[in-house]
Amino acid sequence: MPTNKKVLITGATSGIGEALVIQYSNENHTVIACGRQAEKLSTLCQNNQASETLQFDITNEDQIKDAAAKVSELDTVIFNAGDCLYIDNVMAFDADLFAKIININLTSLGYLIKHFLPKINKGGQLVFISSIASQLPFPKSEAYGASKAGVDYLANSLRLDLVAHGINVTLVHPGFIKTPLTDKNDFPMPFMLTANEAATRIYQGVQARKDYLHFPKRLSLLLKLFRLLPNKVWQSLILRTS
Ligand SMILES: NC(=O)c1ccc[n+]([C@@H]2O[C@H](COP(=O)([O-])OP(=O)(O)OC[C@H]3O[C@@H](n4cnc5c(N)ncnc54)[C@H](OP(=O)(O)O)[C@@H]3O)[C@@H](O)[C@H]2O)c1
Repeated sequence: MPTNKKVLITGATSGIGEALVIQYSNENHTVIACGRQAEKLSTLCQNNQASETLQFDITNEDQIKDAAAKVSELDTVIFNAGDCLYIDNVMAFDADLFAKIININLTSLGYLIKHFLPKINKGGQLVFISSIASQLPFPKSEAYGASKAGVDYLANSLRLDLVAHGINVTLVHPGFIKTPLTDKNDFPMPFMLTANEAATRIYQGVQARKDYLHFPKRLSLLLKLFRLLPNKVWQSLILRTS
């Protein structure tokens, strides 16, 4: 039985986003799944996991505007779509890669907020999927880490301005989650969770209207502990483990 609660999820064609579509649909929400892959989106509809789909690229404002025009009211919006690329050779700094990741993970949010925020009902919720990477610098993560640190500031500032509008902001910091994004990594990824485990934690935290979600707790606590150490100590620990 649908709850009549409408949730819109970006990046619904893979990984955490796809797991969120399944989680919310199992919890009887009406799900609008967003992504670029038409075939994947229609499979989500055929399986009754999504009630509606919107196909758009989050870096294209015209496509976002057209997609948003098809939506009336929303209760929850989850900005999850994103990408990760690493700076492999710092001395030949790839400025194009840097700009690309900032554009996908951060600049796009300006357009997404512009077009989807007015659709959120009073009492609704806005959710940002950032990363635990924004909590401490990691090697080769200049682009990804900077983009997610920007997401954090954006979400935290929005939370203040949206109080008057009755919209709650949840900022999510996942650790390593097994998805196509992390399947490319060749370094140790401690305490990795499945996408379904991540989706359950996000669902429960958003239902509880939490401001912040950090998981897995073990990794989040470890990074907090690193931050209490002298700079030189945590820096050498990070360099040794990556
Ligand atoms: N996996 C992790 O360990 C981890 C940890 C912390 C945070 N995160 C964050 O969680 C989010 C989801 O990551 P994931 O691991 O689930 O990755 P994923 O499996 O690669 O999925 C990424 C999703 O984002 C979509 N996307 C990427 N660029 C897009 C664009 N320009 N326009 C529209 N959609 C676009 C992808 O669509 P296509 O299928 O069309 O490419 C896909 O649906 C990201 O923001 C990521 O930074 C992931």
